[in-house]
Amino acid sequence: MDSSTSAAVRVGSLTLNAPVMTASGTAGHGVELAPYLDLGELGAVVVKSLAAFEWQGNPGPRLHAAGAGMLNSVGLQGPGVEHWLAHDLPALIDAGATVVASIWGRSVDEYRRAAQLLAVAPAQVVAVEVNLSCPNLHGQEVFAHDPSLSAAVITAAAVCGRPCWAKLSPNTDKVIEVASAVAAAGAEAVTLVNTLRGMVLDRHSGLPVPSAAGGGYSGQPLHAVAVRTVFDVHAALPHLPIVGVGGVNNAWDAAELMLAGASAVQVGTASFVNPRAAGDIQRSLLAWCANRGLTVAELTGLAHRSGLPAGLPGDCRPGVDGGR
Ligand SMILES: Cc1cc2nc3c(=O)[nH]c(=O)nc-3n(C[C@H](O)[C@H](O)[C@H](O)COP(=O)(O)O)c2cc1C
Repeated sequence: MDSSTSAAVRVGSLTLNAPVMTASGTAGHGVELAPYLDLGELGAVVVKSLAAFEWQGNPGPRLHAAGAGMLNSVGLQGPGVEHWLAHDLPALIDAGATVVASIWGRSVDEYRRAAQLLAVAPAQVVAVEVNLSCPNLHGQEVFAHDPSLSAAVITAAAVCGRPCWAKLSPNTDKVIEVASAVAAAGAEAVTLVNTLRGMVLDRHSGLPVPSAAGGGYSGQPLHAVAVRTVFDVHAALPHLPIVGVGGVNNAWDAAELMLAGASAVQVGTASFVNPRAAGDIQRSLLAWCANRGLTVAELTGLAHRSGLPAGLPGDCRPGVDGGR
């Protein structure tokens, strides 16, 4: 099997050379992970969400361990798109990375401005992931909980002039309606899922821990939620490409998201334990597929098959392990 084609995946109109990306906000704005892995080997480096303006984010501490997962309240700190284009992106390109920019805003117009600033980005910025899990300045609702507001953001983001992916929230029972609305508005893919709302109380005071009072919960405990969300959206909208993310710690976790319906996966919190995680997981996912005689793209949606043998293709081969 030719290894270059067996690793490639398609996400909408885009072909990525490999299936694993970093998750936005967990790999910095630039080459922070370059000392640990070859960024050019990944499907893409998805950078932390950027606004049209510089933003300080929340005061520290911003991370808090919570069970087997992590709460963060970073608050979307970032230098703004123009600064990122001038100061962070060049090193990413020099490192050979395929780059996905991520944007946020507090109004449709703020998203439009961030997307407009990305219109001049070089071709190595192959897509824009639109982080819709932000509160709307003009109302209480998070964008990703409202199908028509989410669609309006995606329509506005088209000015970036490249494929837009809509990053959706698991904190709503409307995820299929939102996915359908953003697809109709032009999103080439949905990225599922952002963090779950979480909280930790202080053991001594019994009060919410400031860094974890309104945090986003990520890591291993989020994984089953991500698998379910990907599965449900793929079942409802089988032609909509999905990028799966949430609690991916090993090759089987990545394979699980793809079997559920994802075309590619992202690794986030696992990188806080092992900064090489995205590269390690990608290599072992590709080995897992090769052991079964499958290309990685062939995994997509296999959990929805019917009328086929119970085992996954290749499962009868000797020496095939669980990938963990
Ligand atoms: C510290 C931290 C910062 C994050 N920042 C962003 C962000 O800026 N934009 C975004 O779309 N998602 C952000 N996320 C969410 C991740 O991209 C990802 O969707 C989520 O953490 C689930 O994946 P994981 O369990 O592999 O971390 C952040 C997550 C963490 C842990």
